[in-house]
Amino acid sequence: MKICSTLSWFCLLGALFAGALLGQGCGGSAQTPPAQGQTPPAEVTQPPEAPPAPAVDAAVMAAGQTLYQANCLACHQADGRGVPGLNPPLAKSDWVAGDLARLVGVLLNGQQGPITVNGERYNGVMPKQAHLTNEELAQLLTYVRNSFGNQLGPVNLEQVQALRK
Ligand code: HEC
Repeated sequence: MKICSTLSWFCLLGALFAGALLGQGCGGSAQTPPAQGQTPPAEVTQPPEAPPAPAVDAAVMAAGQTLYQANCLACHQADGRGVPGLNPPLAKSDWVAGDLARLVGVLLNGQQGPITVNGERYNGVMPKQAHLTNEELAQLLTYVRNSFGNQLGPVNLEQVQALRK
């Protein structure tokens, strides 16, 4: 500021010629650079109803989708709604949202016998998916738990490792 005031004529000139370009005149000293990229402080456009969805990695979701298509889609369908009376839904499923140990257990051990999913009875046979690595299971479960209307957050490798003994 001091330098500015002593060289105010220069600053004025500078402001005249370069002010418009640089967006800062005399007062815009180097200590306080102008806000980059015009990010307004308030996110007024964000509706308050949006839940604080846990961050899910896009690359993990993509890997999980590929695994889903290869291993699950045939029975549980592309939209995760399953086949009524035959293959239960993963969309909004209380099994998918429920205990992670039970969910991982379905994949590692398969599932057969009568079960109730979202109030509907099923009595089918799901083959175990134990060929999947822990990392693949984490990716797959992250995908399943964050697709088809599910918003349950990521499953990480450590969680699966702890459950597969
Ligand atoms: C051959 C068909 C088939 C395949 C492939 C299959 N499932 Fe299943 N899945 C079933 C059936 C049938 C049940 C219900 C079993 C029962 O009635 O006890 C089931 C149950 C489930 C359940 C528990 C109930 C629910 O709907 O939430 C989950 C979770 C699940 N499967 C996820 C998967 C995932 C993830 C894959 C891919 C890795 C997969 N399944 C592959 C047929 C299949």
